[in-house]
Amino acid sequence: MDTKVPEKLHVDAFELRFADISEVSLSQLQALSMSVGWPHRSQDWQHLRDVGRGFVALDEIGRVSGSTMWFPHGENFATFGMLITAPRLQTNGAAEWLVKRMLEECHHERIRLNATRAARRICATFGFMPKQTVFQCQGEILSVPQAADIRQGLDLRRLECSDLDVVTALDEPAFGTRRYEHLKRLFESSICYGLYDGGRLMAYSMRRRFGRGHVVGPVVAYCEEDAIAVVHPHVVAHVGSFLRLDTHFGAGPFGSFIQQSGMSVFDAVTTMVSSESALYGGPSTGAPIVFALASQSFG
Ligand SMILES: CC(C)(COP(=O)(O)OP(=O)(O)OC[C@H]1O[C@@H](n2cnc3c(N)ncnc32)[C@H](O)[C@@H]1OP(=O)(O)O)[C@@H](O)C(=O)NCCC(=O)NCCS
Repeated sequence: MDTKVPEKLHVDAFELRFADISEVSLSQLQALSMSVGWPHRSQDWQHLRDVGRGFVALDEIGRVSGSTMWFPHGENFATFGMLITAPRLQTNGAAEWLVKRMLEECHHERIRLNATRAARRICATFGFMPKQTVFQCQGEILSVPQAADIRQGLDLRRLECSDLDVVTALDEPAFGTRRYEHLKRLFESSICYGLYDGGRLMAYSMRRRFGRGHVVGPVVAYCEEDAIAVVHPHVVAHVGSFLRLDTHFGAGPFGSFIQQSGMSVFDAVTTMVSSESALYGGPSTGAPIVFALASQSFG
């Protein structure tokens, strides 16, 4: 950015100043996300801080009134997330101030984010282009929808840490960049399944505790059939409990499988990118595809 972002901002009767997100307590961050109806537990914020960086906006008496984060994924690539302004201070320019400060600090050329309806216009003013809809599917699993048998010769099994390198290799063309550190951190807190064709990994899925229950993601596969195969065991494990999955697939076999299980579309956000080079890999290239996001912030 050409102009320096002011260190202080007058918002209504308040004066806000920046602080590094690592300087405030997890309970303050949780209170902020709760104020906008987001379900993050303190452990979820811890995970975000383990792999990301960010700023908070503090008022004169040290209350956390806003936040923004970015998550470096390898060289020249980052995802943005956790942009929040406390409801009492909204529509006064605080989010714009936070994003400007973040862009000043984050020099990645390729940036991807998932914008809520409230944030879409702000992100567009910074040059982010809308590309895809993400369907936030969630709910109590009612039953396990009928799924086709796993393709002959393929083997579905729990993944171990020793599978992390092949998971990273399958994931890279789908996600758009190598995200080893993120996948490693996710692995530590997830139950993971892989679909193998002999020694070749064809699909993988992860499931971890998050918010109100558990979230399934990331999920990467070459085709919808394989994506369903690796999500199936997570759905089976959660009959009667809350599960969430964020996907670009609102219809078709995968979208139908998710929604018929009880995870209905709760909300939709928009994947936006700073340049075409920040896009996900696409089905047209014959490369693997991201069927479920790790989270809206991680992409
Ligand atoms: C999205 C969110 C962060 C926006 O925060 P905010 O502080 O209200 O954002 P800003 O004030 O910078 O901008 C919001 C709007 O107010 C307008 N605005 C800013 N200052 C203004 C002022 N002084 N008077 C009138 N309008 C103003 C902006 O132009 C913007 O309008 P637009 O949405 O039409 O582009 C906030 O609504 C929020 O926390 N929502 C819930 C969580 C969420 O959705 N986060 C986004 C994740 S991607």
